[in-house]
Amino acid sequence: MQNLSAPEPFRLAATGPLAGTVSVPGDKSISHRALMLGALAIGTTRITGLLEGEDVLATAAALRAMGADIERTGAGEWTVHGVGVGGLLQPETALDMGNSGTSTRLLMGLVASHPITATFVGDASLSKRPMGRVIDPLSLMGASFMASPGGRLPLTMTGLCPAVPLEYTLPVASAQVKSALLLAGLNTPGQTVIIEPTPTRDHSERMLAGFGATLDIEETPEGRRITLHGEAELKPQTIIVPGDPSSAAFPMVAALIVPGSDVRITNIGINPTRAGLIEVLQAMGADITLENARTVGGEPVADLHVRHSPLTGIDVPPAIAPSMIDEFPILFVAAACAQGTTRTTGLEELRVKESDRLATMAKGLAAIGVKVEEQEDGLTIQGTGGDPLPGLGNSGTQIATKLDHRIAMSFAVAGLAARSPILIDDRRPVATSFPNFLALMTGLSAEIS
Ligand code: S3P
Repeated sequence: MQNLSAPEPFRLAATGPLAGTVSVPGDKSISHRALMLGALAIGTTRITGLLEGEDVLATAAALRAMGADIERTGAGEWTVHGVGVGGLLQPETALDMGNSGTSTRLLMGLVASHPITATFVGDASLSKRPMGRVIDPLSLMGASFMASPGGRLPLTMTGLCPAVPLEYTLPVASAQVKSALLLAGLNTPGQTVIIEPTPTRDHSERMLAGFGATLDIEETPEGRRITLHGEAELKPQTIIVPGDPSSAAFPMVAALIVPGSDVRITNIGINPTRAGLIEVLQAMGADITLENARTVGGEPVADLHVRHSPLTGIDVPPAIAPSMIDEFPILFVAAACAQGTTRTTGLEELRVKESDRLATMAKGLAAIGVKVEEQEDGLTIQGTGGDPLPGLGNSGTQIATKLDHRIAMSFAVAGLAARSPILIDDRRPVATSFPNFLALMTGLSAEIS
């Protein structure tokens, strides 16, 4: 999945208000988990609304390489014939994870309790990201690792079967680490216990329960205590994947910052562990209403109605960060268009995402004329008060996306509210999570060049 073609610079511009009703692709986190649990169930799991982005396709390819039979039967429609918990086979070649941290860390969890050896490789961005956070607890369960310096990819690991159950308090608020341990626990006899002092997205817990795993969840003074009873037997399911709130964030902020806009985004997951951005934007004055709230396949879903709104800067409470961890780049764009100052803190984790998102956003925002200060754990942004962003002017510079899809899409949205063009160095990373982003934005009347 290494991208060997040439970079493709692009930009968006607004020709007027954005208007219309759109739906965004399926949730990336839920799509990965549906394929993985389907691969571990005996029988046929049917998935609709699967995100067909590069990250999820990397998960599908890896699971196929380990013996699962996975077929695409239509747009977003997939079937998975699983091998059963404990039935994964040793892959014959290295597993190419492309840009996807979620594929890597969750699949490492799966491999850890199977008697197999697997090598994980990824692109330049993924090869810089820390894997020690999963290597450490999975080593305690008995897996062994040969990683590149700093606990990075490429790495080769060998699982242990039976693995040793563990009780582990998460040192970082990470759903990926939690999920890796839960997946490892499925093929581990006894109780795997994970304590999360700060709650993170709970799609794994919801879906594991749906597939028939036995899971106890308790709120304790130390945090959420999740106990998984192994060895589990999973029953195949029908999974309907809701629209990804992390993708909806881009047309949502676009509608807020382009004067006169009125946009509906249908069928979006509003799981409270993911919905922090809506809350923060509403506190800034955003006119976002949730319509037709319902539950689909164990996940809360609603349609979002978003209208252009004057925004006011706020201090974003650090406690909300895990529920909007992927949305800070686009929140920074909203903050740049707001009246007054927005301060964010407690965001050290953004430095180890697909890029160092504090540094990449600070540099890009400064280049387009936004007053921004970078701290170790956040950004402080002075907004324009609704005036257009200056843009790159005739400087001839391009925004560096650093192989980070959310940086590319955030600056594309900024281009909709800018006086002069914002040219972005590469559109290819967008395909990791939101392949039809540009088509969707042009459908709302934005122009691409
Ligand atoms: C994800 C968890 C988050 C998020 C990522 C997807 C998941 O990562 O940033 O895009 O699906 O579990 P962390 O667990 O590292 O916070």
